[in-house]
Amino acid sequence: METVKDHYDRFLGSVYSWILGDFETARQKNTAYFNTLDLAPDDNAIAVDLGCGPGSQSLPLAELGYSVLAIDFCQELLDELGQRTGGLPIRTVCDDLLSFRSHMSEPADLIVCMGDTLVHLPDEKAVESVINDVCDSLKPGGTFIYAIRDYVDYTPHGAARFIPIRANDDQIFTCFLDYRQDVVHVHDVLYRRIDGEWQMRISDYLKLRLDTRHINEQITGRGLVVAAGDDADGMITVVARRPE
Ligand SMILES: C[S@@+](CC[C@H](N)C(=O)[O-])C[C@H]1O[C@@H](n2cnc3c(N)ncnc32)[C@H](O)[C@@H]1O
Repeated sequence: METVKDHYDRFLGSVYSWILGDFETARQKNTAYFNTLDLAPDDNAIAVDLGCGPGSQSLPLAELGYSVLAIDFCQELLDELGQRTGGLPIRTVCDDLLSFRSHMSEPADLIVCMGDTLVHLPDEKAVESVINDVCDSLKPGGTFIYAIRDYVDYTPHGAARFIPIRANDDQIFTCFLDYRQDVVHVHDVLYRRIDGEWQMRISDYLKLRLDTRHINEQITGRGLVVAAGDDADGMITVVARRPE
């Protein structure tokens, strides 16, 4: 089985934006979502994007007025983001998000970890460590937003474990999910038509079955207030604020 980093470096990074559907649509969806939160960043506001990928959250946040620190360990995705930044204030860093604090020089107004990124961490201890670091890295009044898929309240069986992601005339991407007690064993299956022949590649890795109730208890225990939770398309998004 691949490590998550190898999976992105050798397999998923090159097709990630394609499987998102249309990148601009994903970006606009995030812009619309952030607009619902009345974030109102001031002139020097800092946002940190953990597991930024190609930037569908970093770009809208920079457009809103944040200086964004965008962290990911997949250089290929950071390069994609780099091609989209234009003059926007986005600093990309290629590193494990577990070390994000070492790239910050001052507390943040906003930290986001969206698009099912937390579940990629190696174990629950790593998640706890990131959550503690996030809580300790926010300014008073600062906001934390995380979004993960619900792998706890619903367990698919049989054919429901095969998820068609995207297909066109030249490539087909399907995901097979094998649910175990604490993890989901994810198999990404990519068919590519090369010289008229279909060729298949499979890469597999583990996702944690994280419970948002548990994460929210931890956040609350660190003094933040869970302000909102939203469940759409199987993705749970939680917004928490550090009191002034
Ligand atoms: C599912 S993608 C989400 C990307 C983006 N936030 C979005 O919503 O499109 C997960 C991202 O997290 C990155 N990632 C996963 N684990 C990481 C880690 N430990 N350190 C840094 N990046 C990580 C992957 O490279 C990938 O870009």
